[in-house]
Amino acid sequence: MRFRTVPSGAADPLRVVIVGAGGMGRAWLATVADSPDTTLTGIADLDVALARRAADAAGLPDLPVGTDAVALARQTGAQAMINVTVPEAHHPVTTAALFAGLPVLGEKPAAENVSRALSLAAAAEVTGELFMVSQSRRWNPQLARLREMVARLGRIGTVSTSFFRSERFGGFRERMAYPLLVDMAIHAFDSARFLLGAEPVTAYCQSYNPPWSWYAGDANATVVFEMDGGTRYVYDGSWCSPGAPTSWNGAWRVSGEMGTASWDGDHDPILDAEGQTGQPTGPPYSGIAGALQVFVRALRTGEPPSGEVHENVMSLAMVESAVRSAASGRLERVDDVLRQAHAQALRDETRAEVRDALAGWSSARDALTGVSRSRSAGTGRR
Ligand SMILES: NC(=O)c1ccc[n+]([C@@H]2O[C@H](COP(=O)([O-])OP(=O)(O)OC[C@H]3O[C@@H](n4cnc5c(N)ncnc54)[C@H](O)[C@@H]3O)[C@@H](O)[C@H]2O)c1
Repeated sequence: MRFRTVPSGAADPLRVVIVGAGGMGRAWLATVADSPDTTLTGIADLDVALARRAADAAGLPDLPVGTDAVALARQTGAQAMINVTVPEAHHPVTTAALFAGLPVLGEKPAAENVSRALSLAAAAEVTGELFMVSQSRRWNPQLARLREMVARLGRIGTVSTSFFRSERFGGFRERMAYPLLVDMAIHAFDSARFLLGAEPVTAYCQSYNPPWSWYAGDANATVVFEMDGGTRYVYDGSWCSPGAPTSWNGAWRVSGEMGTASWDGDHDPILDAEGQTGQPTGPPYSGIAGALQVFVRALRTGEPPSGEVHENVMSLAMVESAVRSAASGRLERVDDVLRQAHAQALRDETRAEVRDALAGWSSARDALTGVSRSRSAGTGRR
């Protein structure tokens, strides 16, 4: 998607406001404050005292705080917003920012469901502002090296991720119906799309809760996705599996025509393929600092970044397809999930111009993969 560029440089760093002062908001606060590419202008949270405490804890007692992120951005001259609120607030906060002329870098997931995420993709089209989702694993240099190895394996048969940990979070995760699928698996699903450069076609999932689980919902899930091109992606995970924990990134195996690549999630990946030697280089950045660097560079150059909302939504569609299959017990088609989410987005949309943009899409899949947008290029506000 074409979007408005925002020039910045060493002498003129991008002025950024953060919204959301919870656990992850504090991590972003430290990252933005440390980056030579950005100047932090303020932090907003519905709980303004929490925002104040977060700023104080970061050694920034004079940092402006507020409850309304757009108002704070205006008061402090911010040029962009980082949205680190809870998933339910992603849609209203990001929509308000885009319509106020602010590009947004948002924490995953894009929104609380695919329908709301489609609305955000349409809002980005209408406003011509960049909305990039920070899916932090995308910026892991080891994953990038694994991706380069995968490109040397010829056709790919199966990709698998094992994720087995024993986590006692307390709070909302222990009350969710599908905590592993909804709160965690999106990282792996997004990484699988990134590794393969392929999109999901179907999902079959069995999710369940072992008898010793301390979660109310299903802490275990096994999902098989068919990706376009025929590769199968298998995700096998648990959040209540005592002993021998895998990495937070999961343990990966990619089986291809010419060999196998594997990654334990914490160390350099290993390539076992005839005639292939040498370790690929990978990008020079990682984690949320990497996402911030990529966001600033995209605003300078106008090059769509990895994680641009249209490109990101399919990872959320994988989560919803897996949950739907877990509930129905059947194989689910991702296009059915997208079609229903598109219809829901049209029903729920309150902004006429966003509804018009959604109505102009031939299908959600076409819009997300660029087909509709290339047909209607030039219809954005800017
Ligand atoms: N990339 C990762 O590895 C990673 C890790 C943890 C969390 N996250 C994501 O980061 C986001 C935040 O997670 P968290 O753990 O910090 O949550 P949290 O609940 O600790 O903090 C969220 C904050 O948002 C504030 N908020 C909610 N609605 C708001 C609104 N409309 N305006 C202003 N503030 C509002 C809340 O008051 C709260 O302080 C979530 O989307 C989560 O999925 C990502």
